Amino acid sequence: MTSRFTSQTVLITGASLGVGRTAAQAFHAEGANVVMVARRIEPLRAAAEGLSRAHCIAADVADTGALRRMVDECIERFGALDGVVNNAGLHHRGPLEKNEAQALGDMVDVNLRAPVVLTRLALPHLLARRGFVVNVASLAGKVPLDGAATYSATKFGLRAFSLAVAQEVADRGVRVSLVSPGPVDTGFIMEEIDRVEDIVFSQAMCTADDVARMILDCAEDGRAERQFPEAGGRLATLGYLLPGLRRWLKPMLSARGRAVKDRLRAARGAR
Ligand SMILES: NC(=O)c1ccc[n+]([C@@H]2O[C@H](COP(=O)([O-])OP(=O)(O)OC[C@H]3O[C@@H](n4cnc5c(N)ncnc54)[C@H](OP(=O)(O)O)[C@@H]3O)[C@@H](O)[C@H]2O)c1
Repeated sequence: MTSRFTSQTVLITGASLGVGRTAAQAFHAEGANVVMVARRIEPLRAAAEGLSRAHCIAADVADTGALRRMVDECIERFGALDGVVNNAGLHHRGPLEKNEAQALGDMVDVNLRAPVVLTRLALPHLLARRGFVVNVASLAGKVPLDGAATYSATKFGLRAFSLAVAQEVADRGVRVSLVSPGPVDTGFIMEEIDRVEDIVFSQAMCTADDVARMILDCAEDGRAERQFPEAGGRLATLGYLLPGLRRWLKPMLSARGRAVKDRLRAARGAR
């Protein structure tokens, strides 16, 4: 086992479940102190069980005061802040008019506003330590996903923020990266599979381990972007650049995704 993050302190939002939980455990296994954030304390404590250098904070990333306290607690508890993983995410699914205005605003707050504000608040500490930020976006941040317009917009925004701020701070030694997964086998999509857009399942599914690996690799080497699956990421870029191609491919990809979804549902039912 390598120890790429020995004595570093990493703050991870959305660390009680799925990708964030796996990433926090992986950072800890590689020597880091981990500060783990989620709203509900019990799943958070369960995720931190057995981790000797973990500090849990029950907080909502939509709250600016809470973001400030998170940064302060990293310094109070571990004396420094070397890295931030903006991972907490929210998806109210369905077409625009099927969602309440408040729910759409909440999605912007959690998926876009919180990473921007937390990165800003952490920056003085990251500059002092030549640290890193890793933002967790989505392939829906590379190609517009109709049926998920607001979610897609927040992830496009996060990608733009990440790539732009990476350039702003690169010459001062801070690395800012973006990780864009396709479908990940977590509760985020699997617990509401019927409401997930069919086309999402046309891409190969990855695991929380796959995404955590990308996060740690970005934290180490500062590569601006990683995506999974690689082919899905390239197709997303092509679909963004060529809307006509996107519209032409959509029925085929949706049918492929529907078939995968049916198989996944059947497998879950059989369990
Ligand atoms: N799963 C996928 O298919 C997929 C695909 C592409 C991108 N992503 C992105 O990957 C990231 C992680 O997703 P996941 O699949 O690991 O999701 P998940 O399993 O549902 O976990 C979400 C985590 O975020 C926390 N969280 C949610 N809202 C929060 C808030 N307002 N403040 C603080 N914590 C909050 C949750 O805990 P509490 O509920 O207790 O707060 C939980 O720890 C998200 O940004 C998501 O958009 C996921």
